[in-house]
Amino acid sequence: MSTTEQRVAVVTGGARGIGAATAVRLAAEGRAVAVIDLDEAACKDTVEKITAAGGRAIAVGADVSDEAQVEAAVARVVEELGAPTILVNNAGVLRDNLLFKMSASDWDTVLNVHLRGSFLMTKAVQKHMVDAGFGRVVNLSSSSALGNRGQANYSAAKAGLQGFTKSLAIELGKFGITANAVAPGFIATEMTKATADRVGMGFEEFKAAAATQIPVQRVGEPEDIANAIAFFTAEAAGFVSGQVLYVAGGPLD
Ligand SMILES: NC(=O)c1ccc[n+]([C@@H]2O[C@H](COP(=O)([O-])OP(=O)(O)OC[C@H]3O[C@@H](n4cnc5c(N)ncnc54)[C@H](O)[C@@H]3O)[C@@H](O)[C@H]2O)c1
Repeated sequence: MSTTEQRVAVVTGGARGIGAATAVRLAAEGRAVAVIDLDEAACKDTVEKITAAGGRAIAVGADVSDEAQVEAAVARVVEELGAPTILVNNAGVLRDNLLFKMSASDWDTVLNVHLRGSFLMTKAVQKHMVDAGFGRVVNLSSSSALGNRGQANYSAAKAGLQGFTKSLAIELGKFGITANAVAPGFIATEMTKATADRVGMGFEEFKAAAATQIPVQRVGEPEDIANAIAFFTAEAAGFVSGQVLYVAGGPLD
């Protein structure tokens, strides 16, 4: 790649929250960005933020757990922006419940979006990375990978993504491709707001309670995670691979 050529990044679940902040951050670093989410129209705000700042971005509607939709989405990215060599597997959902009340469909939904979705997206994009001899994959894990009450499905998916990340790093390293995982703690987004609603707490009160348990005494913002993702996708980060970085305002293990 010549130094004037622009790398193309794909961010799934980019309509809002961590995905939107990541798309905006990668665009600010000079990447062209495909913003993928379930509903193409919902990606409009993210795309407009990027183009208003002089960047290049497109909105693409796709369900990451659907193989045909993933393949069509990646084909559109190639056609409209160019071959993608940066992939952020960020799309996610919660279906929290205690194990004895968790339905098989809530299990399947969470595993399908996080794990099957990341698998399908990576499979569809990796050939472009191999052709380019360069690639950066970042998967969104979570502090819940360490176990969390009411999240048997989600913690299994997020721990699974850590194993997926390490296997990608081993298989794809020889093609100039790195794979890493960012594991956020509590980040203020619609996802955590929905959890506050579910437990019957106001979001401000919920965040304040969470902050008391975090060493830096605040909850995270989407930009905190976008910053870590930007590090892993940087040209200079080519020797950092197969890592899981907890971004949680303090240590976790
Ligand atoms: N917010 C947190 O505290 C936190 C903590 C740890 C990990 N995470 C992870 O970070 C990622 C982003 O979380 P967020 O808080 O920004 O969530 P969010 O709910 O605000 O945004 C998630 C986005 O993913 C999209 N999405 C859901 N299913 C999809 C599918 N099948 N195909 C395409 N898009 C789909 C949604 O439409 C939404 O726009 C998720 O993987 C989440 O599990 C979040």
